[in-house]
Amino acid sequence: MKKVLLIGADGMLGGELKERLEKNYEVYGTTLETLDICDRDAVFAKVKEVNPYFIINCAAFTNVDACEVKEDLALAVNGTAVENIADSAKSVGATFIHISTDYVFPGNLPVDQIYTEDMQPAPVSAYGRTKLVGENNAKKAEKYYILRTAWLYGIRGKNFVKTMLNASKTRSEVTVVDDQHGSPTSTTTLCKIIEQIMEKEPEYGVYHSTNEGFTTWCQFTKKIYELAGIETKVIPLTSEQYKEMNPASSDRPKNSQLSKEKLKKIGIIPDNYEDALKEYLKEELQ
Ligand SMILES: NC(=O)c1ccc[n+]([C@@H]2O[C@H](COP(=O)([O-])OP(=O)(O)OC[C@H]3O[C@@H](n4cnc5c(N)ncnc54)[C@H](OP(=O)(O)O)[C@@H]3O)[C@@H](O)[C@H]2O)c1
Repeated sequence: MKKVLLIGADGMLGGELKERLEKNYEVYGTTLETLDICDRDAVFAKVKEVNPYFIINCAAFTNVDACEVKEDLALAVNGTAVENIADSAKSVGATFIHISTDYVFPGNLPVDQIYTEDMQPAPVSAYGRTKLVGENNAKKAEKYYILRTAWLYGIRGKNFVKTMLNASKTRSEVTVVDDQHGSPTSTTTLCKIIEQIMEKEPEYGVYHSTNEGFTTWCQFTKKIYELAGIETKVIPLTSEQYKEMNPASSDRPKNSQLSKEKLKKIGIIPDNYEDALKEYLKEELQ
């Protein structure tokens, strides 16, 4: 069995990925307690010890609003530390799989257009800026895949779907932003994409890796409530209204719709976001 060093193995994505990969790979999982990716010597020592075929980085500073006030820490974890992993991957000839984000894009494309992998990133938030530094560092590994995902939710973590389900327990109506467009993505779908990338080992590079289909946070909330049989009313907000209500919140791209054509060309077809949501809710609502 091929060896996999899975960094961030107790996160929302990393936890699910570890459980799935263990069926077909010899997986060595690390967490912040066992390996701080900002510690370059420790990263090199771990990579040398395991000598993996694949290194997958699911670790990150993912609180988008907190990144605005702690940009130095966000840069260290999301940006600089990725160079430690990329360089150490190169030193043992391992293939590096790094998870990035739609927030590297500015989001000012008209809504009838979508971002392809070769379009120029220009983030509007601290999170996006630090993740873009991470992407550039990930490319220093000789063999690398950068998988840009978006609006991620999964059973193991705090996420938007859970927040909306919880809100419906105490509120008769919720207000949700309706002018940010993207693809909600389940960790299960992203795990399947990662597994297929590992099996196929296509050309190295950047791959947009989200569920298929586009929506807004507001319309997504309506779909969550419809599928869960919840009657709470969903009121649309603009990003500007949301910012007035939450002045410390980070700016977010209005259009972060990612094209999946590159993924499809190598035979990887992500599920539609509505189907993925249905599967998730079956487990979440049990
Ligand atoms: N969540 C989303 O909506 C979203 C959207 C687009 C892209 N992504 C990307 O998808 C990937 C997975 O996200 P996720 O939501 O699964 O993240 P998550 O649940 O927040 O997990 C990230 C993990 O990284 C760990 N970590 C933080 N600093 C570390 C360090 N210095 N060294 C080692 N580990 C460290 C965290 O530990 P602690 O919890 O102890 O801090 C946590 O276990 C990330 O690359 C993220 O940027 C996520």
